[in-house]
This record gives sequence, structure tokens and C-alpha cells, in this order.
Amino acid sequence: MRVCIVGSGGREHALAHVLSRGVEVVVTPGNPGIPGSVVTPPEELEADLFVIGPEQPLVDGLADRLRRRGNLVFGPGADGARLEGSKAWMKELLAEAGVPTAHHGTFTDRAEALAHLDQMEDLFVLKTDGLAAGKGVLVTGDRSQAAEAVGEYLSGEAFGDAGRRIVIEEGLSGPELSVLAVCDGTTAVPLVPAQDFKRLSDGDQGPNTGGMGAYSPVPVATAGVVDSLMEDAVLPTLAVLRSRGIDYRGVLYCGLMFTPDGPKVLEYNVRFGDPETQVVVPRLTSDLADLLASAAAGSITEAPTFDDGAAVGVVCASPNYPGPPRTGDPVEGLAAASAVDGVTVFCAGVGEAQGRLVTAGGRVLTVTGTGSTVPEARDSAYRAVAEISWPGMQYRTDIAGVAVGTAATG
Ligand code: AMP
Ligand code: GLY
Repeated sequence: MRVCIVGSGGREHALAHVLSRGVEVVVTPGNPGIPGSVVTPPEELEADLFVIGPEQPLVDGLADRLRRRGNLVFGPGADGARLEGSKAWMKELLAEAGVPTAHHGTFTDRAEALAHLDQMEDLFVLKTDGLAAGKGVLVTGDRSQAAEAVGEYLSGEAFGDAGRRIVIEEGLSGPELSVLAVCDGTTAVPLVPAQDFKRLSDGDQGPNTGGMGAYSPVPVATAGVVDSLMEDAVLPTLAVLRSRGIDYRGVLYCGLMFTPDGPKVLEYNVRFGDPETQVVVPRLTSDLADLLASAAAGSITEAPTFDDGAAVGVVCASPNYPGPPRTGDPVEGLAAASAVDGVTVFCAGVGEAQGRLVTAGGRVLTVTGTGSTVPEARDSAYRAVAEISWPGMQYRTDIAGVAVGTAATG
């Protein structure tokens, strides 16, 4: 079997790494740190299964184009990908499916949006309707900052057309959890949950990023929590999609928050999470290619199984990320990091210059440590991170800290 993975991040590297245990893998465009990377576009490649990593090509209909030429594809068509491509549409669908979520309003008019802010309490949450590379969410307790952002979003200044329509949500609080459900159009099976660390700096300070680290298993995610999420959110959502003629085959990523009023779905994404994938798929003990191929074919036959161990992933990022990053610096210490027991380094924003890997993006690497417990996995990950360097490298020192009691975050 030959699998073609579309994308170029740490998530795609992790998928390729695990898939290549059993099948031939090609990654497009990949990056110089991912074995099997080719620059040939997916439409010009042949494979028994295509797995599409990022949201943008899904929203742009890549899965539809590949299916039209007869390929087996893991990833929703443009119709299903709208769940991530339009937050307003997603919120409407959540309401129809009866899924608990934050109260919200959708606005294109500045005066109406500002009037809505006046009725809110102490935490203001602003989201672009469209895709903004994970950066379109503002959570603030400062009304004047929220009001200023309303103007910048709606004018197109902040996020172009993606922000000309906004969703304003009630602010919720509580621990978060990411559950990736593999869907075959009718039914779905969950992967082990993970927790992502979205803020740039230790103690959940600083701006939101694509994710600075993740770990699995997560103490708050009991089997009961995952079962209820499947019953109360994922399966009803698939049923509503089906009633609208949408055959959703791919990952439905549920971003959950455990609020004092119970778990609520903060968001759906239509793909594997990054960096969650880098700590979830390394724990898989069943066959990933079989799972994805059966979902893509419309009939999941077996639920995936996972080891009893743990994985902790720490993202190493370029200076100035999540702003425009400084790039082009040589990545030092990769070999020593990879030699740490239980560690795999997944490459994202890396390029090549004079035969060496150099930084080429915001999130450069995810360093994943595995072990029989979270503290063991965490220790391996941070021992490996200590080997890696480039000028101004940023990383959090408290990933999975809550799970081992060294920091209250997550
Ligand atoms: P999203 O892309 O919608 O998941 O938002 C990114 C992050 O913003 C989430 O992981 C939360 O940390 C935070 N966030 C999103 N919605 C809310 C909300 N309604 N209340 C509080 N925080 C939120
Ligand atoms: N880690 C968050 C995401 O993949 O959207």
C-alpha cells in the first residue's frame, strides 16, 4: 500500500512516521526534515490512499478533486470542511445538533457588534468567521481592547476577508481537551485525548499560537468523558451533516472546555490537530493505515487501540513567533536530541541550506518524548529539547506540568 500525505508540518511528519511502520509513504510538499518528501503536487501523484493534513486544502476542495479522479481520500470535502472554514456555520450546526457550546452572536456590522459587547460580562471572545491560521481568536477581559479588535477584524485590517464577519462568544473557563474522532461518514471512533497548550509562554501567558506543546493521556479525560462526547457531540454532528447530504470522512477534531456547567465544545476542526497528533499517533498500537483507509472507504471496521504509556510533545519555535518569525538559522543538536531514549523529533518549519537544516517557519520542531508515565515522557522530551538550539529559540518549560504537579497550567 502507498499512502500520500498532504502537508508540511509536524503533524504530517508524525503521521508519516507512524504510517511508515507498515506502508510506503510519500509526503507532499513535506519538508527537508520529513523522509519521503516530494515537491510534486498531490494531483500529479498516484497512491492507494491520500491523507490531507491542513485545513486550507480541505476547505479549498482538494479531497473532492482527488475523489473525482477515483482516489481513496481521508479528509472531508469542501462541504464538510466548512465546519472549520466558517465558525458562524459551525455554531449554527452545533445548535441544530444540540451540542453544548458557548453562547454567541455573528456580526458584520460594527455598531451591532459593539452593542453586543455592552451586554457581555467580564470575558470577551472574538473570532474571525474564516480561516486565520489559528490566530483569529482574541480572548480578553478588557472591553476597550475587544472594541478596538472589532473594528480591526471587521475592516479587514487584521485578518483580511476572514475577519469581515465575526463571531463574538461568551467567555468560558476551565481545562481544555482535544479529542480527534475518526469518521467514516456515518459513524466515528475516538483517538486517545490530548491536551494542547495554546498560549506562547509558561503559565498560559502571552498570545495564542497554533499550539506550543501537547501531552497524552490527560487526567481530566476519563473514558466516560470521551464516551459522552461521542454520544452528545460527534455522532449528532455527523447525523446533522448527513441530513444535509454531507458525507464526512476524515477527522472531526473537538476542542472541549470543562466549564463549571459541564463540558462544552469550543470548536471543531476538520483535520488532525497539531501538535496533538505528535503525541496521539505515537501511542497507537493498531494499524493507522487500516484505520484511515477504512474510514476513507466509508466503513470503519475496528476501533483503534493505544498503549498504556504517555507522550509529551514540546514545540520549539522561531524568535518572534506567532508574529512573522525570524528564519534561516541553522538547527543545532538534532542528532543528539533524537538519540535520547524514547524521543522522536518531528520537523515542521525547516528548510535546507548548504546541506544543513535551517529554521524556515514559526513552529520549527515538535520534540516528542514517550515513556510509561507522563513524568517519564516529559523528562525525555525536555532532555532532548536541551540538546537543540538556534538563536532566540522559544519553547515552553511547563508542557504537561499540570499532569506531574509542577505547574498549574493547561
Ligand atoms: P478556537 O480556535 O476557537 O479553539 O480558540 C482558540 C483558543 O481560544 C481555545 O483553545 C481557547 O483557549 C480560547 N477560547 C476559544 N473560545 C473561547 C471561549 N468561548 N471562552 C474562553 N476561551 C475561549
Ligand atoms: N492545536 C490546535 C489545532 O490543531 O488547531
